[in-house]
Amino acid sequence: MIGVFDSGIGGLSVLSAIVRALPRADLLYLADTAHIPYGDKDEATIRGRALRIGGYLAERGCRQIVVACNTATAAAVAALRESLPRVGVIGVEPGVKPAAAASRSGRIAVLATASTARSERLARLIRRHAGAARVDILPCPGWATKVETLRLDDPEFADTARRLLEPVLAAGADRVVLGCTHYTFLAPALEKIVAGRALLVDVADAVARQCRRLVEESGNETPGRGRLALMATAHPERLRRALTALDLEPLAARLSGPAVLVNI
Ligand code: DGL
Repeated sequence: MIGVFDSGIGGLSVLSAIVRALPRADLLYLADTAHIPYGDKDEATIRGRALRIGGYLAERGCRQIVVACNTATAAAVAALRESLPRVGVIGVEPGVKPAAAASRSGRIAVLATASTARSERLARLIRRHAGAARVDILPCPGWATKVETLRLDDPEFADTARRLLEPVLAAGADRVVLGCTHYTFLAPALEKIVAGRALLVDVADAVARQCRRLVEESGNETPGRGRLALMATAHPERLRRALTALDLEPLAARLSGPAVLVNI
């Protein structure tokens, strides 16, 4: 079984890609809704949550764990790998490398939570993989919480996003990296803003391919039945509602029961 977690519904974008890549895998999705947003918290707090959730998922029998959250990956993926040596741990990092490689203007922007934006891990990713491209890191406080409300076509949000993006687009940025898994669900609104000037870069499918490789390499996996279990540390019912609102009905069809509240 593969465990996938995020602070909330953002990781459903990664989960959906994993289902496409591994249709028979059994999946457990855990939303740490009681502690959202991660992006406003310090790294030690986020690491504490990630270790707790990782331990729980491993106890439930997950042989692979996908940290479907850029913020938790930056703060905790190394600690998770250390604490769970027998589990394959996959993280999600902003697509700086593909964006820089594809950019024609040599200028890219990364949208991220405040925590990811100031993380050493993102700074290192840029040093290693941006090459000569200039990278503007744009912290987006409040955006993940906005996605949780499921009001994705809010004109006020579109104004905020336009104000944030306009200067870097005017300066020539031609790739905009979605550096938080929640932002995938804002893509329709963001596409209207960047249209004709930049393309959005999302890594959900690349993460799913990496997950498939890991499962295949582990070699001893019995094929699953394509079932999905949902869990949350608060308001589990919101997860099911999100599947409908975000057009993720193929995930809903796999559910083995209602979303469950877990106290961890
Ligand atoms: N979805 C998460 C990410 O990819 C974090 C959102 C939050 O809780 O701030 O960064």
